[in-house]
Amino acid sequence: MRACLLSTKSERRCDETKQSFIKWNLALISIAFLNIVNVTTAFVDTESKESETAGATTTPTYGVDVSMPIHHKDTVSINYDYFPHNVLPSLYPTPQMFRNMPIQPLGDRKAFYHQFMEECRVRYGDRCDEYKEYRIQTNLKQPKSMVNYTETGFKVLPVAQTNSKVTNLLNEFWNFHREEWTPELWPDGNTYVNHWSSPTYMVSVDHHDTSLRGSRVDFHPLLWQAAKDAVSEWIPQVDEWIECSMYGIRVYTEGAILNSHVDRLPQVVSIVINIAQDPYEVTWPLEVIGHDGLAHNVTLQPGDWLLYESHSIIHGRPFPFRGNYYANLFLHLEPKGHSQLHHQHSGADEQDHGGDMKQQYASALESGIGGHETMDVTTTNLPPYILPDSTSAQEYLAKQQQLKEDGTNNDIHTLAANGKLTELIDLIEDNQRLLVNAKDHNGWTPLHEGARGGHMDVVRYLVERGADIHERSHYGTGGNALFYSIDQHGQHHPVTEYLKSLGAISVGPEL
Ligand SMILES: *[C@@H]1O[C@H](CO)[C@@H](O)[C@H](O)[C@H]1NC(C)=O
Ligand SMILES: *[C@@H]1O[C@H](CO)[C@@H](O)[C@H](O)[C@H]1NC(C)=O
Repeated sequence: MRACLLSTKSERRCDETKQSFIKWNLALISIAFLNIVNVTTAFVDTESKESETAGATTTPTYGVDVSMPIHHKDTVSINYDYFPHNVLPSLYPTPQMFRNMPIQPLGDRKAFYHQFMEECRVRYGDRCDEYKEYRIQTNLKQPKSMVNYTETGFKVLPVAQTNSKVTNLLNEFWNFHREEWTPELWPDGNTYVNHWSSPTYMVSVDHHDTSLRGSRVDFHPLLWQAAKDAVSEWIPQVDEWIECSMYGIRVYTEGAILNSHVDRLPQVVSIVINIAQDPYEVTWPLEVIGHDGLAHNVTLQPGDWLLYESHSIIHGRPFPFRGNYYANLFLHLEPKGHSQLHHQHSGADEQDHGGDMKQQYASALESGIGGHETMDVTTTNLPPYILPDSTSAQEYLAKQQQLKEDGTNNDIHTLAANGKLTELIDLIEDNQRLLVNAKDHNGWTPLHEGARGGHMDVVRYLVERGADIHERSHYGTGGNALFYSIDQHGQHHPVTEYLKSLGAISVGPEL
């Protein structure tokens, strides 16, 4: 029992558990001998249990804090299913320490999780615990504050029911670009994925390269349309869906674990598309805690889609991946503020919404208010997916209020220009990657500002978060980041050298 080695406190607890466990087992064995009841399944050990196929009818259902700590920081259930009070509750009262603790059918998940966290701490120290705290807090607070659009919260669309044209294009794209793995960069101490031992990679879906046949086909508009169609059919009460983001194809590798979490707002509905996996036969359950509060294993075959309410559905992959790679594309959508659930919002909104929705959405994100345009601080301006009077509603309104007071101080361009890395991280993490390449009124991106300011940490962070190093200011007629860096700081500045190492070539403004 590895968990027993951790600290004196848990050691004692573990020992107690172990002793009582031995005692109970003896009791059980004698009962089994007397043939009072058939308890054979209770003796199945972890090893043989794992070889059972996922989703088999014998698999018990369970809720949170069983596969992973989800609502409690370090506590995963140690109330094993083979304990006498679980096998024969009429004969054995539940000991104090197990009251209210869910039954644990998955084996020693406590040791498993401690190892996960220890590996992170060895690499990154205390930051791992900060991320953990954030993850648990969000799991606790966010789902409660959300409008639930469907009864279950998730739905699998088997490949046969997906748009076949889109599926073929995705296959074709993958076949052309499958070799182009680049490491996915995770912030230090991020505990969503065990990236320190099972690195993840990205295959970008933004291709400017026109020389390959596969990349000539722009599947984005078709994919978005198919995504919106699928989501609209699933959630008919929302009139319109906004494209939030298309994260590239993430490639997980052997041993990968994805910790159970909810997505940041405004990622309300997400789609996971299983693009490819190796070996083909491998299954890797995605565990979702449905609106029923129970864990469901979803296994996707290549081509299958999973639609889920990612703002309220806790999801993760708590069982390590056993295969070579597993490639998934992620799409995130947000309901526009006209859902039939929330007709009261639609009147005023309608008038403001001429023009290009995408542009409006991007600029709303840029000002940090998650796709909802008006800045008035009244409850009616809550996005339709946040329940009024909930914790998230309060936070949302407080943030709007703060933005109003701060004016442009928190503007992403200003933060980059002034080298404010921490504030920049907060802002970008809050508003996803759209912001990274956001342009100001002169067509400058944060990277242009960071490079002109000579802030190496800011530049590196922005690049790692997907900033385009080739982008020119002034909407394509100005200089690129390398030009501004050389212009301000010369050929030997770290920013200059860094951008060059990434293959940037200095391009100056058109005169
Ligand atoms: C999910 O899959 C794991 C691994 O195969 C299995 O141990 C567990 O019992 C399953 N959980 C549910 C709720 O089906
Ligand atoms: C929505 O579902 C979550 C669980 O996924 C639950 O905590 C929350 O209370 C539900 N909200 C409503 C309004 O029923």
